[in-house]
Amino acid sequence: MLGNFMYCNPTRLYFGENALDFLRDELKKYGDTVMLVYGGGSIKRNGIYDSVVAILKECGKTIVEDGGVMPNPTADKLREGARIARENTVDLILAVGGGSVCDYSKAVSVSAYCGDDPWEKYYIRFDEPTCEIIPVGCVLTMVGTGSEMNGGSVITNHEQKLKVGHVFGDAVFPKFTILNPKFTYTLPKYQMTAGIYDIFNHICEQYFSGEDDSTSDYVMEGLMRSVVHSSRIAVQNPEDYEARSNLMWTATWALNTMVAKGKATDWEVHMIGQAVGAYTDATHGMTLAAVSLPYYKRILPYGVKKFVRFAKYVWEITADGMTDEELAKAGLEAMEAWMKEIGLVLSIKELGADENMLEGIADATFILEGGYKVLTRDEVIDILRESLNA
Ligand code: NZQ
Ligand code: ZN
Repeated sequence: MLGNFMYCNPTRLYFGENALDFLRDELKKYGDTVMLVYGGGSIKRNGIYDSVVAILKECGKTIVEDGGVMPNPTADKLREGARIARENTVDLILAVGGGSVCDYSKAVSVSAYCGDDPWEKYYIRFDEPTCEIIPVGCVLTMVGTGSEMNGGSVITNHEQKLKVGHVFGDAVFPKFTILNPKFTYTLPKYQMTAGIYDIFNHICEQYFSGEDDSTSDYVMEGLMRSVVHSSRIAVQNPEDYEARSNLMWTATWALNTMVAKGKATDWEVHMIGQAVGAYTDATHGMTLAAVSLPYYKRILPYGVKKFVRFAKYVWEITADGMTDEELAKAGLEAMEAWMKEIGLVLSIKELGADENMLEGIADATFILEGGYKVLTRDEVIDILRESLNA
């Protein structure tokens, strides 16, 4: 491992079937007014809303509700949330939901007192917050993004056709997160598998980069094996606690910044996937699934050594007289077979994209330099077209 770094993760986690009980301990640390943020209503249907509200009331909190956070939260919604938080001088933002609700809550936390347009400030100019930041806590109900233990916050602007992530520093990480795997049982299968691929791709983004011998690569191979193993069980039996708890835990470790320390990372699949999302508003994990295979096939010749390692240690393929190139390809074939097995979307057509959007999606794609091959705009178009015709 050749990089120099500082590592600190300030988020306190409570994991397991009784994790919500510890919300009481956390609430003691904050003032009386809690902004309860949630999505389109799943938490009301599955009872999580009632459990959380009961604890808030028991702890004597005044609740300011901000529901209706949409998947892929928008800049307009963010402006509204910032106003609600400011006008009610909230002491804590409690996000109860998936990555969208957590991301949105973090964005609100830095926007309430920023005195500027939050979209322009954080998502166009990428300024860092200098204002008061409202603390955020999370009760996670959907697994995949890692938002529960990181500073990431992705916001979509439909007018500008942009979906942009800002990775904020320690001060914006959730102060605490409640992780109860049972809270994820009611997720529709489509969302569950999208989340599974989001986890897997977060690991790929950090794995397929760099040449040095890094402990993180060994950790990531273990995480990928665990995701594949548990995903196969969870798609058959979504109420298998062991599988769902392992998925929840790998999701957190896949993107809580630890495995990225000291090594190069890529993130180009996310850049293309987010641009697809800006045009289609499709489910995040599915946008990644749909562009991954054409992307990895394209960069494979530039990173054969790592793809060979992927084939051997993640998919347990033995060389058996194969050349390195053949072995590397066999690894990607195994990944493709698994993606089909668990029911992921492999074409952006299925997500609502069409030929007329390709130029615009390519323009909305940030080209990064951490992967094995820096893409050209034409290559982004080729990848999109391959996915469209898959
Ligand atoms: O809105 P509700 O009614 O709650 O329904 C949600 C939503 O429709 C539903 N859901 C969540 N928990 C449920 C449930 N339905 C039934 N039972 C439950 N227990 O699932 C749908 C999707 O939820 P959402 O929060 O949008 O999904 P996800 O967790 O995948 O979050 C996606 C957002 O996170 C961003 C994505 O770009 C996207 O905007 N990301 C954030 C990252 C980060 N903070 O580091 C990194 C990721 O790569 C990603 O970009
Ligand atoms: Zn992701």
